Amino acid sequence: MDNSTKQLTYQRVSKEILSVLAGEDNLTARMATVNCLLAGAFPAFYWTGFYLVDPLKAGELVVGPYQGTLGCLRIPFGQGVCGAAAAKAETQVVEDVHAFSNHIACDVKSNSEIVVPVFDKSGALIAVFDVDSIEPASFNEVDKRHLEALMSAVFSN
Ligand code: SME
Repeated sequence: MDNSTKQLTYQRVSKEILSVLAGEDNLTARMATVNCLLAGAFPAFYWTGFYLVDPLKAGELVVGPYQGTLGCLRIPFGQGVCGAAAAKAETQVVEDVHAFSNHIACDVKSNSEIVVPVFDKSGALIAVFDVDSIEPASFNEVDKRHLEALMSAVFSN
């Protein structure tokens, strides 16, 4: 998908997500809706989902709402792309997951990936949002900018 189509798609789907979620505070409902509408808008997104910071196990992420094939249940901070995003509290864009040294391969169809940290209103890290694509090098600055803005609008406001 070229950058301008991508940009328009993010603008349209972000508006739709915010409109569906207006007045809904439940975190699971918010996460499930983000997954569903993004996966529907971008044909290459075959896995979209959240890994939540586990309040009961320090330094560990536990799988939350997702769409796609079976995801691993737990990821320690620092492991894989999700663990790196959580440990650094920074978005990770991986053009080729096979070249990422400690990538956790949940599905062989994954070729590229973006993971965006999710913060609550107080600025605390509550989760990471993970998108896997079947295409190589699916994600760039456009995805980073729009997904960061969307996570902030949905979970930090
Ligand atoms: N690939 C991820 C693990 C999660 S799954 O892709 C659903 C990673 O390395 O963080």
